Amino acid sequence: KKNFELLYEGKAKKVYKFDEKKLLIEFKDDVTAFNGLKKDQILNKGKINKEISKFFFEMLNNQGINTHYINDYDENSFVAKWTDLIPLEVIIRNYTAGGFCKRYGVKKGLMFDYPLVEFSLKNDELGDPMIAKDAILLLKITTENVLDEIASISKKVNNILSDYLKSKGIILVDFKLEFGISKNDNKVTLIDEISPDTCRFWDANTMESLDKDVYRENKGDLINAYEVLLGRLDI
Ligand code: C5P
Repeated sequence: KKNFELLYEGKAKKVYKFDEKKLLIEFKDDVTAFNGLKKDQILNKGKINKEISKFFFEMLNNQGINTHYINDYDENSFVAKWTDLIPLEVIIRNYTAGGFCKRYGVKKGLMFDYPLVEFSLKNDELGDPMIAKDAILLLKITTENVLDEIASISKKVNNILSDYLKSKGIILVDFKLEFGISKNDNKVTLIDEISPDTCRFWDANTMESLDKDVYRENKGDLINAYEVLLGRLDI
């Protein structure tokens, strides 16, 4: 984006300064897996993930969740609140899959009695290691109040998204959230993206993946799967 200062470039997004209080979040066509070991460019992925993220953030904003999403900008970017990022990845799991199965040697697709909330340290070099609540507090990554608020917002987001997706014949298996503290009002704010890059979505009838597992596990055409998901949402 020519007119804006690039502040940060990640694996799938670029973040620009929009103004003193706002950022412009751009979704790239790049896709990576296994901490960047596998990577490709997939035409239109950025555009689709922006549409899906925008849709979920608007739904959450309307239901009283404080997200960074402010307004749409163009095909592959939106304007967001500027926040100080808390370097944690919050993983919410409703069913066993992915890293959980690998770590504990259990089969995939087992439903939990209640959602599991896990924290990882956001650090590419270290490969985003899991981190215990006390380690987060002792390392002063954030305060106990903020951490409790993050966990409670994450569970609310899980309820809202799971219920909605269920009505569309989709199971929300697990997903990742990130949070920041907004520059404007110091509030805990849901940031980053909510897309098939960061969630596992299974078709409730066929149990087919409509998410990045299609790419991770070479299960077919990624854009096809993302478009099936997009087609089920009220966009
Ligand atoms: O790999 P794992 O099973 O721990 O991932 C759990 C969920 O979090 C998946 O939906 C995955 O897409 C998401 N995730 C992510 N970014 C990471 C790690 C996990 O979006 N760095």
